[in-house]
Amino acid sequence: MIIAVDGPAASGKGTIARALARHYKLPHLDTGLLYRAVGQTVLDRGGDPANALEALAACDFTDDLLLDPRLKLAAAGNAASVVSAHPAVRQALIERQCAFAAQPGGAVLDGRDIGTVIAPQADAKIFVRATSAIRARRRYEELVRAGVATSFDKVLTDIKARDLRDSTRATAPLRQAQDAALLDTSYMSIETAISRAITLVESARARV
Ligand code: DC
Repeated sequence: MIIAVDGPAASGKGTIARALARHYKLPHLDTGLLYRAVGQTVLDRGGDPANALEALAACDFTDDLLLDPRLKLAAAGNAASVVSAHPAVRQALIERQCAFAAQPGGAVLDGRDIGTVIAPQADAKIFVRATSAIRARRRYEELVRAGVATSFDKVLTDIKARDLRDSTRATAPLRQAQDAALLDTSYMSIETAISRAITLVESARARV
């Protein structure tokens, strides 16, 4: 069984995807991490994420970078959103994601284009959504807990800029697949969101 979980930044898709992977005992890939690794590599090399050639060259990052805690920070997230708009970067990362999805036992993948591009054949597709103010509040509280100095307004501005870039790029923009179930987590606890997600996967499975 392949489960595709897509949605904007801080919608809760990562937490939901990890919980689904645990529930169904499937391997999980956070595809945003791959784009974050490319973005961070460009920054580490003193390059510009908007430069397509520099971004493509950074797709040679090594796997140990995927464990780097800096990838969780806003700088890597913003750079990721910029590098991910280059078609050549998306192309360079496709194979790895498709191979993960094609594992014999199945897999859970989360990102922006899993249900539309990486695994259009997925057995269950969930599009996770929440208002930008609520997503910014969650992200802000997460950063404060991690001891990062920031303001709510800065986080909200960042989230809106990423939403705009991710959903208006020409290649594989963030959008709900036609056959994806919508899960709006704005007013849900994480426990409720997870149990709704399991119910959605169960009804998608019952349909096939
Ligand atoms: O999910 P995230 O915040 O870690 O993703 C970081 C950026 O990477 C996001 O702003 C857009 C890009 N991304 C993408 O274009 N396609 C994906 N499947 C996953 C992430």
